[in-house]
Amino acid sequence: MSETSPTLYDQIGGQQTIEVLIRQFYDRVLDDPELGPFFEKTSMDRLRHMQQEFFAAALDGPTTMGDLDLAYAHSGRGITQWHFNRFVQHLLTTLEEIGVDNDQQMEVIRRISTYVNDITGEVGTDS
Ligand code: HEM
Repeated sequence: MSETSPTLYDQIGGQQTIEVLIRQFYDRVLDDPELGPFFEKTSMDRLRHMQQEFFAAALDGPTTMGDLDLAYAHSGRGITQWHFNRFVQHLLTTLEEIGVDNDQQMEVIRRISTYVNDITGEVGTDS
């Protein structure tokens, strides 16, 4: 193939969109009384930066990030599927808020949702 279609990262607007997305998304997460407390001791500047890199990589954009052990980073924190769903709901609301197209919203959510077992430490089925 001589032509490649734009990556999801490019389709949603590249680095600039990712930066706005991550900032507004974590504003929502921190404001949520059920999720905010998880981040009480977290350096949010560092986390936002890592999440920008993570999202860029997950959406096939450029990244300088090496392999991240998400399971290790999240283990022992008591994060359940319920928290995960809430987190993803805030992501969806933010994608809508910043004007990402419906199809692209769904594709971002689909990709991020594949990490659920790493984040919650729960063993799911293959579906
Ligand atoms: C697919 C969803 C998620 C992704 C992709 C993700 C990604 C990340 C990344 C890349 C880091 C930085 C890792 C590191 O420092 O090595 C991180 C840290 C963290 N995540 Fe997540 N995360 C997700 C879901 C969640 C959820 C649902 C919660 C809690 C409700 C959560 C709580 C945290 C906390 C508290 C830290 C910071 C740890 C610290 O203080 O250093 N994450 N996450």
